[in-house]
Amino acid sequence: MRRLRPPHDGPRPRKRGRSQNSGLGRLALSLLSLGCSVGKEKISREEPKGAVGTTGPLEREFAGAYPTQAPTPTATRTFAFSAAVSDVQLFEGRILQSWAYDGTVPGPTLRLRLGETLRVEFRNELPDPTTIHWHGMRVPNAMDGVPGVTQPPIPPGEGFTYEFTPKDPGTFWFHPHVRGEEQVERGLYGVLIVDDPEPLPYTADVLWVLDDWRLTRDGQAIDPRFVTRGDLAHDGRWGQVIAVNGTLDERLEVAPGARIRLRLVDVANGRVFRPDWGPLNPEVIAVDGMYASRPLPVDGFELAPGNRLDLDLVIPPELAGQSIKIVDRFTRRPHHLATIVVGTTAVRTPEFPSPARAHVPRWVDAAAAPVDLTLALSAARGGPYGIRWMINGKTYDENHAEALVEGRWNKVRFANESPRLHPMHIHGQFFKVVARNGQAVDEPYWRDTVLLRPRETVDVGLVPLDAGKWALHCHILEHAAAGMMTLVHVRPGPATPHTPARSHPG
Ligand code: C2O
Ligand code: CU
Repeated sequence: MRRLRPPHDGPRPRKRGRSQNSGLGRLALSLLSLGCSVGKEKISREEPKGAVGTTGPLEREFAGAYPTQAPTPTATRTFAFSAAVSDVQLFEGRILQSWAYDGTVPGPTLRLRLGETLRVEFRNELPDPTTIHWHGMRVPNAMDGVPGVTQPPIPPGEGFTYEFTPKDPGTFWFHPHVRGEEQVERGLYGVLIVDDPEPLPYTADVLWVLDDWRLTRDGQAIDPRFVTRGDLAHDGRWGQVIAVNGTLDERLEVAPGARIRLRLVDVANGRVFRPDWGPLNPEVIAVDGMYASRPLPVDGFELAPGNRLDLDLVIPPELAGQSIKIVDRFTRRPHHLATIVVGTTAVRTPEFPSPARAHVPRWVDAAAAPVDLTLALSAARGGPYGIRWMINGKTYDENHAEALVEGRWNKVRFANESPRLHPMHIHGQFFKVVARNGQAVDEPYWRDTVLLRPRETVDVGLVPLDAGKWALHCHILEHAAAGMMTLVHVRPGPATPHTPARSHPG
C-alpha cells in the first residue's frame, strides 16, 4: 500500500524522560462479531488454587501479585440502565444527538466496594445490537461482552444481565464491543470504580473522563462518517473538540492542602493524551486500575485509548488563589483539558501512606526469556474499508485463537511493523512490559493496554489466571474494526486440576 502519512495533528516525538521511569509511562477496542454464540451463563467458577508458583522462578515471583479469586461477596450492588439514542447536553450547553447509557455522556459511574458483587441489568434501546465490555476487569469469561465469543450480541429491544465480583480495586470502564468505532464514539462509555475495602481518606475523589469529538462543520452533530480511509491511514478518528467529563472547561475547585485522588480515563477512539501538570506534582499511584509498587513521578506518563491513571495530588499551599490550566501536550498543538481552581482557605492535608505498594514482580530475567507468542502488526490494502489492519498478516475474521497457558509465565511480543500507533489491549489479564526494542524495561506496575510507537517492538510478560477466550486488539477502534484483533485462548495449565468451564465458546 501507499506509505501512510503522518497525521496533521500527530504525536510529538517522545522526549527522553528525566527519571528512570519517566517516558516509559506510555500506556491504552472494537469489535466485529464472529459467528458462534454462547448463552448467558451463571458466573461462579472455581479457580484452581496453587496454580501459580509451582512452575518456575518467573511464576514464583508472580505469586501473590494479585488474587486468583474474587473475595467471597458480602453484598450485591445492582444497577439498571439502558443504552439509547439520546439528546445530551455537551460542551457547555450544546445539545447533541448521542448514543448514551442512561441518557448521559459519560454514562453512569458504577461504584462499589471490593467484596461486593456487581449486577447490571442492561437494556438495549439502540437501533443496533450491542454488548458491554468491562475494560480491565478480571471477569469470568462469559461476562466479558465480546460478541460471538463470550455472548451473542444483544439485539435491539432486548436485555442482558451482567454479574460478577471484582477481584481488584481500582478505576475501570465499560463500553460496547459491537461496532465500538461508532458506538463508543457516539458516547457509549462509563466508569466503574471499585473502592478499596477500607476507602482512603482523600479530601476528594475526582474523575476526569477524557474524550475527543469529531463534529460536523457547523459543530451541531457528531460527524456520521465512521472508519474513513483517513482514520485508517492514520491513528484512528481524532476529533477537533476535546472534552473532559463532556465539558470544554472542566473545573476542579480545591483548597490549598487538599489531597485529591484524581482518576483519569482515556475513552477516545484514537487520541493519546499527555497532560501537563504545570506547577503541580501529582504522583501516579495506579496504572490501568492496578496499584503500582511505589508512587511514581507523573512526568512522561501518557494515556492511550483505554488507559487509566490514578493520581495522588496534594495542592501546595503556595498555590492559594491561583487557577492552574491543565493542557494536553501529546500533539504539537497544546489542547486545554481542565482548570484547577485553588481556593484561599487552606485545609489540613490528610496524612496516610501511599496506596502504591503492590507486589509487582521485577522479572529481571524476563527480557532474556524466549518469546512464546509473537504478534506482528501491519497494514495492507483491501477489505471492506480499503485498508486492512492485521495481526500476523490476518484480520480478525481470518485469525485463529492463539494459545496461552493458565498459571504459566508467558511472554508475548508485539512487533509494530507499521508507521502508526497501536495501543494493544488484552482482555481479562494484566501484563507487565519487560522490554522495548529488545532493551529490558522494569515498569513497577501492571497494564492492560500498552501503546506501541511506530516500528516499535514491546515484550510483555503475563501469567494468565482465567481460562477462556479473551480478545486481544488494538484500542484504536478503527484499526480494530479494520481487523486488528484476535483471541487468546487461555488453556487450563498442566499443573492445574481445572474444573472445565460449563460451556466453552467454540
Ligand atoms: Cu476496552 Cu476490547 O476493549
Ligand atoms: Cu492500531
